[in-house]
Amino acid sequence: MNRIAELDHQFVWHPFTQMRDWLKYEPIVIVSGRGSVLEDIHGRQYLDANSSIWTNLHGHAHPEINAAISAQLAKISHSSHLGLASEPASILAKELIDLARASAEESEARREPRPTGRDGRPEAVTTGGRETSTRRLAKVFYSDDGSTAMEVALKLAFQHDQRTKGKRPVSFISMDQAYHGDTIGAVSLGHIETFHAAYGPLLFSSEKVMSPYCYRCPFNRAKPERADARVYRQCEFECVGKVEEKFAELHGAGRPCAALVVEPAMQGAAGMIPQPEGWLRRAAEIARGFGALLIADEVMTAFGRTGPIFACEREEVSPDLLAMAKGLTGGYLPMAATLTTGEIFDAFLGEYSELKTFFHGHSYTGNQLGASAALASLKLLREPAAELHRRALETAMTKELSALWDLSAVGDIRQAGLVAGIELVRDWHTREPFRLDERVGIRVCEAMARRGVLTRPVGNVIVLMPPYSTTPDQLQQMARAVYDAVDEVTRSQ
Ligand SMILES: Cc1ncc(COP(=O)(O)O)c(C=O)c1O
Repeated sequence: MNRIAELDHQFVWHPFTQMRDWLKYEPIVIVSGRGSVLEDIHGRQYLDANSSIWTNLHGHAHPEINAAISAQLAKISHSSHLGLASEPASILAKELIDLARASAEESEARREPRPTGRDGRPEAVTTGGRETSTRRLAKVFYSDDGSTAMEVALKLAFQHDQRTKGKRPVSFISMDQAYHGDTIGAVSLGHIETFHAAYGPLLFSSEKVMSPYCYRCPFNRAKPERADARVYRQCEFECVGKVEEKFAELHGAGRPCAALVVEPAMQGAAGMIPQPEGWLRRAAEIARGFGALLIADEVMTAFGRTGPIFACEREEVSPDLLAMAKGLTGGYLPMAATLTTGEIFDAFLGEYSELKTFFHGHSYTGNQLGASAALASLKLLREPAAELHRRALETAMTKELSALWDLSAVGDIRQAGLVAGIELVRDWHTREPFRLDERVGIRVCEAMARRGVLTRPVGNVIVLMPPYSTTPDQLQQMARAVYDAVDEVTRSQ
């Protein structure tokens, strides 16, 4: 074993890892990366098929991001954001707000004309997530990672509720299998038994609504993915009905919902579960109807991962709080942001002695190196050629993944933009899942690594989320590795 691997085994504790298993094998030690390729300590190359746990956007060692970080490094790496401002963090805040507003306007422009009232003027929209001009994101609160961005969103939503509606018992609603991070507030909003059950006594209780997991639709409404599959009934969004029921139940019980928390477009750690068109819009309308805020956790989906810059844009929904992290710096440095409306911001204004201040902050808030990397990354993201390239890659990904339907262990292939989840099952006819202790997802990813492609599964779901620097050939190599690895592991299963 090489010296670095030895040090790792001796001293490091890895996240979300059964360390007894980890200590049995020599780990892959990454020493460098360029574009979508990572290189290990032995000079072996791998494709970074999950963008280094969903963070990297434009590829590793991108000359423009590197140059931006170096230029900032020559000036200063970090100064406190508590009581001081800085150039890159101020400019970045403006750019993020501009980007969010442009994204909202883009989706507004695509929207069909609103129905007109008797006087011929568009009818006022009283519910729904669509009134972007009145619910505009206006302020940026920086933190360090996805968990802290969600912790900030949660605290702001809670205090906003208490300040505008008086001290009252409230609830938060999030989705089944939700994952919003690992701090205690974020875990309280989560509903993944495996990760969260152990912390039960430490958590506040949040309410859960079913997620629209169409592949395993309990109402038998999912569309058949094969011509010879049985005929399913027409979807009538019973899952959205459940959201409405939950809001009504809490309202009736005197614990109204302060905020609905969603991962728009695609629930990541749940196993890449995409929402059918219309789900988010309807769920947002219900939340609005009950006077609740909408918190969009775009930690995974922001910056074009699912197609548009923000996933909310797909459904013309304007959240009150928008959390982003992973891709914010292009995946180069840990930095996060929670965007809020002016209305929420205003609820925290007052005399110093009123103690309306938002008492929350981290030492590295607004880090100048991170903000510089983020500015360079946003510039790359907005280049028209980059957007065309992403669209082309999305199409290529759909095509490459379609070959996987030939494998009987492939139950479902779910793709939104450049995010894909391939759900493995014992038999596609019955959709019977593999047991956890069979470690099928993990074994498939190990077999992919032997073929030079790195990713991490979510249970029995194989995740592909390539950086935007990926070439069509590299994409083909990734899909081929999934095919061969699934075939190798499941043939004997
Ligand atoms: C949707 C979502 N929210 C929050 C988080 C937590 O982010 P972090 O790991 O940066 O704390 C993640 C991480 O995967 C995520 O996917």
